[in-house]
Amino acid sequence: MGVAEPGATGLGDRYFPSYGNGGYDVDSYDIALTWTPIDGRIDARTTIRAVSTQPLSSFNLELKGLEITSVSVDGSPAEFARDGQELTIDPTTDLGSGVVFVVEVAYSGEPGPVAGEDWIPGGWMGDGNGGIIVFGEPEGAASWYPVNDHPSDKATYRLAITVPSDLTVAANGIGVRTDSGPLSTWKFAPRSPQASYLTTVVIGDYEILDGGTSTAGTPIRNVVPRGRAAEYELLLARQPAMIDALEGWFGPYPFEVYGAAAVPLPIGGAIETQTLSIFDVNALVDSVVVHELAHQWYGDSVGIEQWSDIWLNEGFASYAELLWREATEPAFDITVSLAEEAEFADLSLPPGDPGPDRLFDGSVYRRGAMTLHAVRLAIGDEDFRELMTAWSETFVDSTATTGEFVALAEATSGEELSELFDAWLFSTDLPDHLGEVPLGG
Ligand code: ARG
Ligand code: ZN
Repeated sequence: MGVAEPGATGLGDRYFPSYGNGGYDVDSYDIALTWTPIDGRIDARTTIRAVSTQPLSSFNLELKGLEITSVSVDGSPAEFARDGQELTIDPTTDLGSGVVFVVEVAYSGEPGPVAGEDWIPGGWMGDGNGGIIVFGEPEGAASWYPVNDHPSDKATYRLAITVPSDLTVAANGIGVRTDSGPLSTWKFAPRSPQASYLTTVVIGDYEILDGGTSTAGTPIRNVVPRGRAAEYELLLARQPAMIDALEGWFGPYPFEVYGAAAVPLPIGGAIETQTLSIFDVNALVDSVVVHELAHQWYGDSVGIEQWSDIWLNEGFASYAELLWREATEPAFDITVSLAEEAEFADLSLPPGDPGPDRLFDGSVYRRGAMTLHAVRLAIGDEDFRELMTAWSETFVDSTATTGEFVALAEATSGEELSELFDAWLFSTDLPDHLGEVPLGG
């Protein structure tokens, strides 16, 4: 029985040591909020169920801005203090280790985006059309709910979003709407645990379109600006076939539903929010559509434990773009295409350790994809398929590391691959061959 101490104010991520908090693991978030479009304010209550991992005298959550009206722990009012995004909660009684506890935070105010220095603003933001979206990667979750904001602490989510009845709400999972006078409440209970940055809400003047079903039966619902359904349908029509194609390499699609939300906001791309990726309308091209879909396996279901392992998300999703072209363009050769790319792209940044300022560097995506292709060429298609499927299955709804991927690749193929991975992931020099094909020079 140790002495109760404050939980750490960060989880010690290699790149972002202050992200997340120590001393507990979140089990579930229950977020209930009402959004008023006229002033952009929310009135919210988030209930967190967590398990302590040490005796705790106090613990932290992250919440940015907003006014907190009350905090309770296990039903008793608790004192709290705020310092920037850090919210310190001091329960009236210390918590033992391994104890389930419930924190309730009531708060309100106008959420705003979190302005990252090196990436586009994230978090809760206007959708460019009078509504809002949430884009949480890597640090926007705290803009709208109190959170242990780090991908290593997945949790289940329940969302209840109340808005004027003329608006549509979409979020992770399938929405169930109840009307009450001029307001509607939309409830979401996504089946699988989620990372905090992959939890999202889209509110606005949208319509929800039936996007068909994959051959194995995953339903697709797409969320698009009202009034242009036919155009969006055309751009999103290949998602069922994309699921089929990716399942052939990655194994079964990991969630109960999928879909795209297209928003008229230039977010400069898209984000793989779990079960409902969000796209800038300009990003509705096959390469991005299949990229965000692939993230559902890699990034979402198999999450990262450290931000430095971001290539496990971006390299894998980028490789899926090539798999899709290989499946649909008879003359497309991945090796040839990547060798051409290596001639003009700057791929000197090691994708396995890009640094905190370069999480989304092109090299993480493209050289990350090359790494997977180099593995495929080394172990053959059959072992590669087995590797990708085993990766999805072994770490479903969980998190994993580069070391675990290397170990699984070696176990699957029976080959020694650490030199190959080191050269592709951690060296500043791009390897001079991709399989048999010379690169550069
Ligand atoms: N994960 C997104 C993708 O699929 C990119 C996110 C970039 N994030 C950012 N803050 N710029 O490519
Ligand atoms: Zn991506």
